[in-house]
Formats: sequence, structure tokens, C-alpha cells
Amino acid sequence: MRILLFGKRGQVGWELQRSLAPLGTIVALDREGDGQLCGDLTRLDGLAACVRAVAPDVIVNAAAHTAVDKAEAEPALARTLNALAPGVLAEEASRLGAWLVHYSTDYVFDGSGERPWQENDATAPLSVYGQSKLAGEQAVAACGKHLIFRTSWVYAARGNNFARTMLRLAGERDRLQVIADQIGAPTGAELLADVTAQALRSVRRQPQLAGLYHLAAAGETSWHGYARHVVDFARQAGESIRVAPSAIEAVPSSAYPLPAPRPLNSRLDTRKLQTAFDLCLPDWRVGVDRMLAEVLEK
Ligand SMILES: NC(=O)c1ccc[n+]([C@@H]2O[C@H](COP(=O)([O-])OP(=O)(O)OC[C@H]3O[C@@H](n4cnc5c(N)ncnc54)[C@H](OP(=O)(O)O)[C@@H]3O)[C@@H](O)[C@H]2O)c1
Repeated sequence: MRILLFGKRGQVGWELQRSLAPLGTIVALDREGDGQLCGDLTRLDGLAACVRAVAPDVIVNAAAHTAVDKAEAEPALARTLNALAPGVLAEEASRLGAWLVHYSTDYVFDGSGERPWQENDATAPLSVYGQSKLAGEQAVAACGKHLIFRTSWVYAARGNNFARTMLRLAGERDRLQVIADQIGAPTGAELLADVTAQALRSVRRQPQLAGLYHLAAAGETSWHGYARHVVDFARQAGESIRVAPSAIEAVPSSAYPLPAPRPLNSRLDTRKLQTAFDLCLPDWRVGVDRMLAEVLEK
């Protein structure tokens, strides 16, 4: 199998380079490309030429405009990266008869209610980022052989993430204020990449499994619960933590107004994916603890 991967240095892209390796040959690109092949999602003609030159069996798009607040100020760029470029990939994949794998977000929903979102629930994005990702889903679905995974609260040991920020602040400050009214499941890039590889193996044998799936770790928490978990883990691991457990204060989203409103309910119902691919998604703490162990060892 020949796999063309975009966004190889992102959280998910990096892990995909590992998880897809046993499936075949990977041509992995970042926005700089490789000198001949274009990996820049803003260059739509270059992108089409790249797919034609590689002629892959599978395209995996892990690149995106993921700066949610910045997207409010640059909607055209967000639309190009998150909707137009996936549309070009869908067209080229259809032409080749290739599979197209793409990632989306719970930000396509308005965050109302407390029930975990199902794949066919009505979408109503609150932000430019969410709107652009929804348009991207629609463009990708035009390619019959597609897999779209909507996920939430992605983290990886590599690079900056919420847990690292909490670890740093917990070592520096006596008090922390963390948002407690947004509920979701922190989901590891490792898990996303591993499930992608499993699903790709399945759809090659059972093409009728093409479609849109919710993919997130099991269980739920708030950013406040997540922060407390991270700080407790670090304390138990012998890290020097200044903030007392009772000094991690729960605050509402309204305490931290941001350019892009966040959905309060980020819960995703993953039963469709677990049934279709016969997979079991671990509790969010399993991956977070693993990531913390890696981060704290360094
Ligand atoms: N992060 C989350 O919490 C989250 C939640 C739900 C869904 N998702 C979705 O999951 C997918 C993967 O996200 P992630 O967390 O791995 O994101 P990420 O770490 O921000 O990676 C995104 C990648 O896209 C690349 N990129 C940006 N502009 C580009 C361009 N013009 N051409 C080519 N590449 C470009 C970035 O490169 P540079 O590093 O060079 O900018 C980066 O490597 C995305 O579709 C995202 O929308 C993410």
C-alpha cells in the first residue's frame, strides 16, 4: 500500500508516521514539502499535482489550521486549509480510486445539552474554525472512499499541550483557576493514529465501512478535572508542586473570554466506531498517564 501523509509534524501526523509504517510505504510531507512534492495546503494546484505524482492508495490528511482563536481573524486562511484543501484531496482521491482519511472536531456542534454527540446529530459550529472544519467534512465526504474521524481535546507528549502548561504553572503558582464547565475527553494522538491504522486495514477488506466516525477516549472530565489529575499525578511522581489540591479553583468559561467561543458539551458518542471496527477505546486517564510518565521522565 502506498500512503501519502500530509501534516507529518503535527501531533497526529507525527504518530501516524509510526502507526502507518507497517501498512506500506509512506510519503510523509510537512508544509515545506520535499523539494519536488508540495505539502502546503494553501497551494491548491501544488497539492493536486503532488497527489497525481505520488498516485497513492491512501491519502491521510493530518494537516489543518488548528489555531482556533487565530482563525476568527483569518477566516479565509482557515477555509483554505480546512475546507478547500481537503476538497482538492477528495477530488484527486476520487480520480485515483484512493482512500482519503481526514480528521474533524466536536467544534462542529454548538455544545448544547449533556448527551454525547452522535454522528448524525445536527451541526451548528460556534466558531470560524468549527465552520471551516464542517465544510471540510462535507468536501471530504464527496470522495466515496473516505474515513472522517471527529475527535476532541487532542494531546501528545511532543510539543506544547494543556498538561505541560498545568505542570509548569503548578510548579510556579500557589493558586490556579481552571475552566470547569466544558466537558469532554482528552484524546491522545497515539490513540488516534493507532485507530486510524486499524480502521484502514478494515476498510480495505470491507469498503462499506467508509464514513464519518466519532473517535475519542472513553470517560469524560472538565479542563478542571483534567488539571487536577495532571497535578495529582505529578505530585505522586515526586515532582516539586507548589499549588495545593484545594487551590486549583474551578471557574466558568465566562471567566476567560476568548475570540472563539468553545462548546460546553464536547462529549462524543463513539459506539458507531467501536462496533464497526470491533475496537475498544480506553479511558482518557490511560493515555494521559502514559503521556505524563513520558513528559516527566525528560
Ligand atoms: N488539537 C486538538 O485539540 C484537536 C481537536 C479536535 C480535532 N482536531 C483535528 O485533528 C487534526 C490533527 O490535529 P493536531 O492536533 O495534530 O494539530 P497540530 O498539531 O496543530 O498539527 C497541524 C499540522 O498542520 C500543519 N499545517 C499548518 N498549516 C499548514 C499548511 N499551510 N500546509 C501544510 N501543513 C500545515 C502544521 O504545521 P506547522 O507546525 O508547520 O504549523 C501542523 O504540523 C486536525 O484536523 C484538527 O483539526 C484537533
